[in-house]
Amino acid sequence: MTILVTGGAGYIGSHTVVSLLDAGFDVVVLDNLCNGSAESLSRVASITAKAPVFIEGDIRDSVCLSDLFSRYDIGAVIHFAGLKAVGESVLKPLDYYETNVGGTITLLKAMQSAGVHKMVFSSSATVYGLEAPTPYEETQPRGTTSNPYGSSKAMVERLLEDWTQAVPEASVVLLRYFNPIGAHESGLIGEDPQGIPNNLMPFMAQVAVGRRDKLSVFGGDYPTPDGTCRRDYLHVMDLAEGHVSALSSLEQPGVRAFNLGTGAPVSVLEMIRAFESQTGVQIPFEIVARRAGDLPEFWANPEKAQRGLGWFAKRDLDAMMVDTWRWQSNNPEGY
Ligand code: UD1
Repeated sequence: MTILVTGGAGYIGSHTVVSLLDAGFDVVVLDNLCNGSAESLSRVASITAKAPVFIEGDIRDSVCLSDLFSRYDIGAVIHFAGLKAVGESVLKPLDYYETNVGGTITLLKAMQSAGVHKMVFSSSATVYGLEAPTPYEETQPRGTTSNPYGSSKAMVERLLEDWTQAVPEASVVLLRYFNPIGAHESGLIGEDPQGIPNNLMPFMAQVAVGRRDKLSVFGGDYPTPDGTCRRDYLHVMDLAEGHVSALSSLEQPGVRAFNLGTGAPVSVLEMIRAFESQTGVQIPFEIVARRAGDLPEFWANPEKAQRGLGWFAKRDLDAMMVDTWRWQSNNPEGY
């Protein structure tokens, strides 16, 4: 079967393309390269000894999409393409809604015209909102999101629910990611953010490799065991494999949501210690003021994914650190 992967040249997308090719799927990647790299796909080809088809194009471009669907016999779509920087989304809400919500509508219309009704959507734990009790469970309703990025993910979940109501053969899996980190074990592909990284792991890796002086730890006075925020970090290859598991469950019509996380919260200070002990590289850091909008802690209850998809996270925190460092030290400036 051929899978269309939108955003397949990005961080999570490129790792998922590896898992798909390894599992025997054919892959067509659609990516506008606004935050991805064509080089990542060349490296995917070296890892898997198979090449995905790459189309440089935009999910908002209906002509590009109808051409793509007429040329390739797509069985299902894994939809990653979108904008993902929380702070930027506050400054540019229209861009976020246009790409993340509008782009998904354009994609769904093209899928519908081509008779393609299966989608795995790249959602986020952020849809549980500001007030949700931990651990997050899929039985909880979506909550109040705090920024346009999070709101756009919640809106797309809602629109996919409405789409599956209207189209009886439609089948959608919403994957709610917790905090993906790490890199493929080869060290050939990994996270390569543009500019100053917003997220903890890439920032820490850039400090380790000498691109940044020190890490700022945002807040040391949270009501958590060591005063720093706790998150559920999972290895990006486990996350990638979750998409392959989700594809096989697309035989059932309707929409289902799954958390993809490990179920174990880890604090920022624990992350620093784990990185240092696995790599032998010290991370200079300073505890500074809280970052606006950060929640003290949240993590997944991952049991539904195990029951429904047969998926669970297999790689531990040490592997996440070792693999991040292999990627960053072999590619100090990224791709
Ligand atoms: C962020 C997004 C979330 C998105 C996810 C993608 C925010 C508020 N939320 O989650 O919507 O789905 O990325 O992975 O941005 N930290 C530091 N110093 C840093 C960077 C981060 O101390 O330089 C801390 C943060 O305060 C947080 C933890 O590290 O406690 C993880 O931060 P980050 O990697 O940005 O992820 P989230 O904020 O959980």
